[in-house]
Amino acid sequence: MDKIRVLIVDDIAETRENVRKLLQFESDVDVVGTARTGREGIQLAGELDPDVILMDINMPDIDGITATEEIRQKSPHIQVVILSVQGDPNYMRRAMLAGARDFLTKPPMGDDLISAIKRAGEMAHSERSKGAKQQMSVSGPGGMMGAMTGFAPATKGKIIVVYSPKGGTGCTTVAVNLAIALNNEDTRAVLVDGNLQFGDVAIFVNEQGKNTVLDIAPRVDDLDNEIVDEILVKHEASGIRILAAPQKPEYAERVSADQFIRVLQFLQNMYSYIVVDTSTILTDVVLSTVDNSDVVVLITTQEIPAIKNARSFLDLLQTMGINKERVVFAMNRYDKRISISPERVSENLKHEIAATIPFDEKIAITAVNRGVPFMLDNKSQPIGRGILSLAEAVRARITAIEAVDGAPIGKR
Ligand SMILES: Nc1ncnc2c1ncn2[C@@H]1O[C@H](COP(=O)(O)OP(=O)(O)O)[C@@H](O)[C@H]1O
Ligand SMILES: [Mg+2]
Repeated sequence: MDKIRVLIVDDIAETRENVRKLLQFESDVDVVGTARTGREGIQLAGELDPDVILMDINMPDIDGITATEEIRQKSPHIQVVILSVQGDPNYMRRAMLAGARDFLTKPPMGDDLISAIKRAGEMAHSERSKGAKQQMSVSGPGGMMGAMTGFAPATKGKIIVVYSPKGGTGCTTVAVNLAIALNNEDTRAVLVDGNLQFGDVAIFVNEQGKNTVLDIAPRVDDLDNEIVDEILVKHEASGIRILAAPQKPEYAERVSADQFIRVLQFLQNMYSYIVVDTSTILTDVVLSTVDNSDVVVLITTQEIPAIKNARSFLDLLQTMGINKERVVFAMNRYDKRISISPERVSENLKHEIAATIPFDEKIAITAVNRGVPFMLDNKSQPIGRGILSLAEAVRARITAIEAVDGAPIGKR
């Protein structure tokens, strides 16, 4: 195995020396140079072509984050580990966005430093060999980024918007569990919260307080798969990725409908299914999402107001020129003791109900309160089987539309 070649960039001589000392007994790590400023770091990165750079943030001329960005643009195989006194998550986020691989606070512990360098070094070596292979074989499918994050779907991902024209009918419950049901090794799903004011997707999966759409939308023009992968929240228990709503309702207006759609379109290159939860209120974001989606999952219940609103929404879709074929109509909170049956609603609205999800308050509410979606631990219960049948209906609809159109669906 090749040695890991390390460049240290820090304006303080003592830090450079300490780090060098920490690394001197590692037989597979070679410190190939040191730089005292961001500018010098950029220059030496070009000359020495190290595998890993240990980068300070605050430096006299160019700061470490800007230097990282510049270096990664020129030499994407070089991996940067940021060293900073700031434990501030904002710094961490900025560093990650600039393309840093890891973040350590000063002074680094020997073990942390060494394992961060080894991880980054491995990544650098594998990026180098990939780059070399690519040059020989003229860019393979998916490209380097696609291969790296491992997600790139074979065809463009499908946008599935879940909408309920009546609040409290279980829109978020369905969106969260549907995303989990659709997600598997070959068809990865990302769950996006389109309820920008009062989104609660993050709470449903107990991942609140992490990155949100605000970390992506404003920089939608210069995204790459790696950055997006870094920002999306990983829901370990299910394997899905989450793009949460802003932390505060007043931040909602910082995301325009246009940005939101472009984020969804970006995700189409990384995931097979982009499931979007929405608010009942038809904001610009929700309307544009519906307009740009492949499938609309419309939720109703057995209550007259919900049915009435579903009818109005179906009319609206017609006005918008959205084909009925794209609508998968589902009934949630279904209770067979109530005389308004799915068949009667189908007949009345002239739109077949494709799936019914039974009422089970105990499972549904416990799931939300624990932050563990019921598709993880109760998928064989009737409520879970209802979601599975909805997922099947969505898949079938996508296949059917593609067959008719003769081409993959999605806004062309
Ligand atoms: N199938 C169901 N059976 C029983 N309760 C449900 C079901 N689906 C959702 N709920 C409950 O209904 C309430 C509203 O659900 P939520 O998904 O937040 O709706 P919305 O997003 O439409 O406002 C929650 O308490 C949820 O646990
Ligand atoms: Mg909701």
